[in-house]
Amino acid sequence: VSSNIKKIVDPKFSLDNETLKEVMVKFEREIKKGLKRSTHSSAETKCFVTFVQDLPNGTERGKFLALDLGGTNFRVLLIHLKGEEDYEFQSKIFAIPQNIMTGLGVELFDHIAKCLAEFAIEMNIQHEVLPLGFTFSFPCRQNGLTEGLLIKWTKGFNCKGVVNQNVVELLEDALKRRNDIKILICAILNDTTGTLMSCAWKHHDCKIGVILGTGSNACYLERTTNAELFEKQNKFDDEKVVINTEWGAFGDFGSLDFITTCYDKEVDHHSLNPGNQIFEKMLSGMYLGELVRLVLVHLTSQGHLFNGQISKQLSTQHQFFTKFVSEIETEAEDSINVVRKVLIDLGINEPSDEDCVNVRYVCESVTRRSAHLVATALATLILRMGDPDITIGVDGSVYRHHPKFDDLMTKKVKELIPSNYRFKFVLSEDGSGRGAALVAAVASRQVQYTN
Ligand code: BG6
Ligand code: GLC
Repeated sequence: VSSNIKKIVDPKFSLDNETLKEVMVKFEREIKKGLKRSTHSSAETKCFVTFVQDLPNGTERGKFLALDLGGTNFRVLLIHLKGEEDYEFQSKIFAIPQNIMTGLGVELFDHIAKCLAEFAIEMNIQHEVLPLGFTFSFPCRQNGLTEGLLIKWTKGFNCKGVVNQNVVELLEDALKRRNDIKILICAILNDTTGTLMSCAWKHHDCKIGVILGTGSNACYLERTTNAELFEKQNKFDDEKVVINTEWGAFGDFGSLDFITTCYDKEVDHHSLNPGNQIFEKMLSGMYLGELVRLVLVHLTSQGHLFNGQISKQLSTQHQFFTKFVSEIETEAEDSINVVRKVLIDLGINEPSDEDCVNVRYVCESVTRRSAHLVATALATLILRMGDPDITIGVDGSVYRHHPKFDDLMTKKVKELIPSNYRFKFVLSEDGSGRGAALVAAVASRQVQYTN
């Protein structure tokens, strides 16, 4: 790797443990602020109460519908939980056109209702009243399991007329407008909650759910006595509730200014939501490729890559997909050729071996910072929970497809917490389907208990 490139990239993207420990202190401070009534509104990480208290115990049964909105794909699912960790599901991916993602809220919910009706007819369940779990992966203030007020849109969505509205009601209204299927919306949940529940079904020590995908976020089990916004008459010391940290917004009021780079600022500036989701923009799938692209453009303009010649594609926003980062970092022996192919596809004429090595170095640097930041936040949560043995359920395209992310993250968490703490990451299968069904099922169990 050329020393000129290292000189530019290293100071910006490699964070030593001392710096990461500073980030940990700030993250812990924001989590505490988020949980407390008096400081909640000024907290970067809002720590929303999810109202999910019981984790699944493996006996949940029944047929459920689920909706998954907010990840790479919008999906409708039919899940049959059969107990004893056995389940079946069918699902269908529907497209959401770009103009709907940033159009009117009413049109978004009409579209969702239409897909749901189409799916119900296809599955021949249009005459049944099925309970539905709605995985809605955006920051919501919940007042119960069936109410979620959207606080702000994140990632690629920005529909008008939805912020501050109860998303469950908006969907119910859209279903009423059609009046052709009967659905009982039993729970609205974040994808992190679905991920935690889905993983906890088999791994009973799973207490954190993480998404490393288009966006990034985590939820964890907190003592109800610490969750001041969880209004409940009697709270017991050993009682827990799932908290959706919304860690993507860490840094929104300046906590991360000491480590953000000119590239982070540029990504933020050209995004749909400038000033928001600063942590997320430093590490999640929607932005990783773009960060790499900006570094490459800068290095080329300084004459350090491609003989100083950039291509049209490489100078266009979002044209360096995050999946290229995963491909380029392959451990395969012919990795140079993989890099070369990506670069040629991006319009670079005859990239040299040196160019390829340097481009891979940029990808590795951006990925490493991403994994280390996630590790830092996770280490903070693990220490906060004080549980010496814990399973962490993880999902999302970056975690699934990047060849080194898991390893980088695991090593760094180990370095940041005392050695008597043990933890393991488990890929959580289908949080938005099985997880949503489990929340709906556990919700009905909670109701039975309280009645
Ligand atoms: C999926 C979960 O597999 O991962 C979704 O079922 C979640 O609920 C998604 O939103 C996140 O990953 P991505 O990469 O699709 O944003
Ligand atoms: C964004 C959303 C959050 C979600 C995450 C992962 O950060 O705000 O709710 O969990 O993306 O999809």
